Amino acid sequence: MTNVIYILPIILIFVGVGLLFVLMIRLSALLVMPWGAPYVPCKEENRELIRTMIREKKRVLDLGSGDGRVVADLAAENETVHGYEINPFLVWKSRTTLRKAGLSGKTRIFRRNFWNCDLGEYDAVCVYGISYMMERLEKKLLSELPAGATVVSVGFRFPNWQPVRNEGAVWLYEKG
Ligand SMILES: C[S@@+](CC[C@H](N)C(=O)[O-])C[C@H]1O[C@@H](n2cnc3c(N)ncnc32)[C@H](O)[C@@H]1O
Repeated sequence: MTNVIYILPIILIFVGVGLLFVLMIRLSALLVMPWGAPYVPCKEENRELIRTMIREKKRVLDLGSGDGRVVADLAAENETVHGYEINPFLVWKSRTTLRKAGLSGKTRIFRRNFWNCDLGEYDAVCVYGISYMMERLEKKLLSELPAGATVVSVGFRFPNWQPVRNEGAVWLYEKG
């Protein structure tokens, strides 16, 4: 009985800290919404389309790279793949996943707000965004990417840029 009196508060503290941690992770996925899309992982069918649309590129970027699954996919067929991710939990998770998959050599995850970065070094960009950021992102990509760059958008299309291909909720663009 005396043991229970000592052990119960310790168990409750551990459970409380665990629940707080889970809540923080859930909340952090939503807190990024003023800067871009909340974390929603890309569906398998869309990942397959991204893989077919971005191949044999030198420098590929996943804008808002989440848990790194798209970065890992793209690493198979492209030279170097980077991910920019604002959420520190997802940065940590994706770096761990990519390291375990043996992909640290050709991939890199940066903890960055992509609005503050110049994207001119990439010849292919992939993004799973949200409706209210698409017009601003369209302008940014068209002003910073080199001629001939490929852009794949999942979930939402750009309002003015004409896609060269569309399959379901995935649009392929080429910068002239
Ligand atoms: C819809 S999820 C897509 C995740 C991943 N690309 C995928 O397809 O599975 C959007 C991601 O963008 C990140 N994000 C939102 N705004 C951002 C910003 N301004 N800079 C960097 N990452 C951002 C979110 O944290 C989230 O992980």
